[in-house]
Amino acid sequence: MTRQSAISAVGAPLIEVYGLRVDYGLGPDAVHAVIDADLTLVSGSVLGLAGESGSGKSTLAYAITRLLRAPGVIAGGQVLLHSGTAAGSAAGPAGTIDLLAADESRLRELRWSRIAVVMQSAMHALNPVITVGAQLIDVLRAHQQRMDKAARVRRAAQLLEMVGISPDHLGHYPHQLSGGMRQRVMIAMALALEPAVVIMDEPTTALDVVTQREILTGLAALQHQLSFAVLFITHDLSLLVELADSIAVMYAGRLIEQASATDLYRAPRHPYTLGLLHSFPPLHGARKPLTGIPGSPPDLRTPPPGCPFHPRCGFAMDLCRQQVPAAVPLGRAGERTAACWLQNGTHDVPAELAVPERGTGAGQQPVTGTGPVPGTGTGPEPPGPAPLTAAVPRGKDATAPDPTRTPQ
Ligand SMILES: Nc1ncnc2c1ncn2[C@@H]1O[C@H](COP(=O)(O)OP(=O)(O)OP(=O)(O)O)[C@@H](O)[C@H]1O
Ligand code: SF4
Ligand SMILES: [Mg+2]
Repeated sequence: MTRQSAISAVGAPLIEVYGLRVDYGLGPDAVHAVIDADLTLVSGSVLGLAGESGSGKSTLAYAITRLLRAPGVIAGGQVLLHSGTAAGSAAGPAGTIDLLAADESRLRELRWSRIAVVMQSAMHALNPVITVGAQLIDVLRAHQQRMDKAARVRRAAQLLEMVGISPDHLGHYPHQLSGGMRQRVMIAMALALEPAVVIMDEPTTALDVVTQREILTGLAALQHQLSFAVLFITHDLSLLVELADSIAVMYAGRLIEQASATDLYRAPRHPYTLGLLHSFPPLHGARKPLTGIPGSPPDLRTPPPGCPFHPRCGFAMDLCRQQVPAAVPLGRAGERTAACWLQNGTHDVPAELAVPERGTGAGQQPVTGTGPVPGTGTGPEPPGPAPLTAAVPRGKDATAPDPTRTPQ
């Protein structure tokens, strides 16, 4: 892929990842958990990263932020963080810094202030013996030394209100809050220094669906209001279809498809994405059987040869069993990518993988194939022809969380 963003941009690129490779362990026994990842996060946008368990989502996020722990090793690539202003910022006078080459002190400056991370199981990350107010104030004290004590307390209260929690809870310990409230506190903490980027790794997975939706609605409103960019990681593609501007799908350590959320939902180009879309009920239109994807993801210690998805793919050809397909630019301006031999311009593309994108009169290649949805034998109907109307509000429809109510 070129250095141009593969994703249609709503702003300037804020983080650009090129050729990122991450291994667990060294030498011939190393597990390749992230392989040649190219990714662009555009300022003010939500980029969703989806994929089954073990596909490498967290590893990718921790490598980007250099929070990867041993035996994880960054084996190559670049992660460029742009300041977003001509004058530069904490990111450096030139406005761009390679996070993989930055020293620890520079990384410490950037974390929280430019990039904040809400980790997987973050709600258990609060210190149980310190009040949530004191924990918020600690973050402010560490990074905003000119702020006096009274201002820090005011800001901590404001942060809680921002995520829909009454400041009355400032003096409470984490165990006095519900799981949903603890997760909101973690989000408040991430937003404390007004970062340009928030990376969220499965932030709501452990919560019930009602609480999850409340939190995501509030998050979407805050993101709209404060214009930070989000890298949102989840195994739940249906959630991203509603929440994200663009989506990257990961499989066995590789980014196998990237597109705008609308195009990916309506017109997937990779059989794995198609299978994921057939794993949850359509958001609109008639009910359809949930066909899912047969089999399970490969053990990354012994990945299959060729395309890693071939043992589960209903379209697999001989070539697929021998050679790994590279991600190729697709769409009108090459603004989306897919890593599938069917999409390299020399094969007939099955109808279900050539559904026209929004605003185009035709699919990208002649449609002659009639292959089955992977493992299912179902017909070629696209998984989601209806327009996306986000249940989690995006853009101008977003509503701010009500700070007067105490969520569960
Ligand atoms: N500490 C480790 N040692 C060895 N291999 C590891 C380690 N952690 C992860 N891996 C390997 O890296 C792969 C990717 O793991 P990762 O946690 O990034 O996946 P994930 O997509 O975030 O999964 P989940 O959805 O379950 O959180 C795993 O399949 C595993 O093979
Ligand atoms: S490269 Fe082949 S096996 Fe892999 S997803 Fe495409 S068709 Fe299926
Ligand atoms: Mg993970």
